[in-house]
Amino acid sequence: MGFRIIANDQDVRICVFMVGLPARGKSFISQKIVRYLSWLSIKVKCFNVGSFRRQLGITQPDAEFFNFANQEYVNIRRQSVINTMESMFQWFEDENGTVAILDGTSITCERRTWLVEECEKHNIQPMFLESWSDNEDLIMENVKEINTKSPDYAHLDVASATRDFMKKIEYYEKVYETFDSEKDGHLTYVKMVNVSDEVIINKIETYLQSRIVFYVMNIRIKPRCIWLSRHGESIYNVEQKIGGDSILSERGLAYARKLKDMIEENAPGETLTVWTSTLKRTQETAQFLSFKKLQWKALDELDAGVCDGMTYEEIEAKYPEDFKARDADKYEYRYRGGESYRDVVIRLEPVIMELERQENILIITHQAVLRCIYAYFMNVPQEESPWMAIPLHTLMKLEPKAYGTKVTALKANIPAVSTYKEKGTSQVGENTKESQLHNILRRDSEVALSR
Ligand SMILES: *[C@@H]1O[C@H](CO)[C@@H](O)[C@H](O)[C@H]1NC(C)=O
Ligand SMILES: *[C@@H]1O[C@H](CO)[C@@H](O)[C@H](O)[C@H]1NC(C)=O
Repeated sequence: MGFRIIANDQDVRICVFMVGLPARGKSFISQKIVRYLSWLSIKVKCFNVGSFRRQLGITQPDAEFFNFANQEYVNIRRQSVINTMESMFQWFEDENGTVAILDGTSITCERRTWLVEECEKHNIQPMFLESWSDNEDLIMENVKEINTKSPDYAHLDVASATRDFMKKIEYYEKVYETFDSEKDGHLTYVKMVNVSDEVIINKIETYLQSRIVFYVMNIRIKPRCIWLSRHGESIYNVEQKIGGDSILSERGLAYARKLKDMIEENAPGETLTVWTSTLKRTQETAQFLSFKKLQWKALDELDAGVCDGMTYEEIEAKYPEDFKARDADKYEYRYRGGESYRDVVIRLEPVIMELERQENILIITHQAVLRCIYAYFMNVPQEESPWMAIPLHTLMKLEPKAYGTKVTALKANIPAVSTYKEKGTSQVGENTKESQLHNILRRDSEVALSR
């Protein structure tokens, strides 16, 4: 099942070709698009030309390998692109893919003409995404990141790797042809200057293409933190009821007070903006924070429909079929008169988009909503995300970086009931192996994004 609002685009298949010199953040942008689209249930995959080149046995090439005057090397590199394209077409066929991203350089007009022809043969819409930048700080930041993370440079010390990499960039600069509205007017392309200082958009045709463009326009690269917390323990939590609009328990109030201290301690002197839902328990949790606050209806808890205000035991007794169906496919199951996780993801999309644009936000919301937000940043698959244990009275700090998101979980040490329900039972509590597996606190406190 695809993303609902693109139903009319069902037959659309898109290939996004990254364009640009080395160290312009192309991989970073590719990975973000993959994460965003897969969060929206769109079948997407990134194909990295460098890894196909490594498959041809060229594992740690020095800069000379990228000298365009050397025909032998040019041929090997062309073969890597051909292999990448073949693998991509195969994926479209075998997996019914919707969006492929080709993470390479594609910096000459000749190459791009060939790519377009190949796509047309396979009934795939080509779209180019150029990352152009002359921001030296940004480039050096990327060079540093690549030199420490890429297998191509694992054998060199930082100084030699940097020297070699700069030489490689010089070779590419000699042949680089940037997008130009006159000669490239017939192509679908987006040219990002200094990431999002200026964005030039040409000939976007389908709805899905425009979604991708809109998303990349919102990407910011300044270092920042996103803070996440559930509301403090509520009266309903204590009574093991779901939904409702109850107020906080005494312990929940204690967490609200503690939250202020935790923020002051961990983000000293920072100005945050606090986003809450429209429900009392999130606002009460935010009450001692002296920052600007914003309420989002989209951050309200998953609507349990007719089950709102019931305990899991009551649901199991009164709606046994529903109770089973929900455990069998928690992501898709929609409560009678209420919502599914998929519904929540769709209403959260504008929140995520705004979150990409903002710096230093603290979100105080609800269990199911937090699972969805966390899944977006951490690339958690749909089968897993509705089962993650995100305990009460815990503050999470997310730091998005070029190659992943770093998570730190801070416990408030104020006791609270567990609201975690495992598959196949109506009891709450997180003591078994299953819940430990899904409890982000018991994973490493730093989790990198899978690439
Ligand atoms: C792809 O779509 C075809 C036709 O709709 C279907 O038969 C096939 O099972 C699908 N394959 C996958 C991997 O989803
Ligand atoms: C890109 O950013 C750098 C550094 O801020 C600036 O010097 C340069 O003029 C920018 N380039 C363009 C085309 O905006």
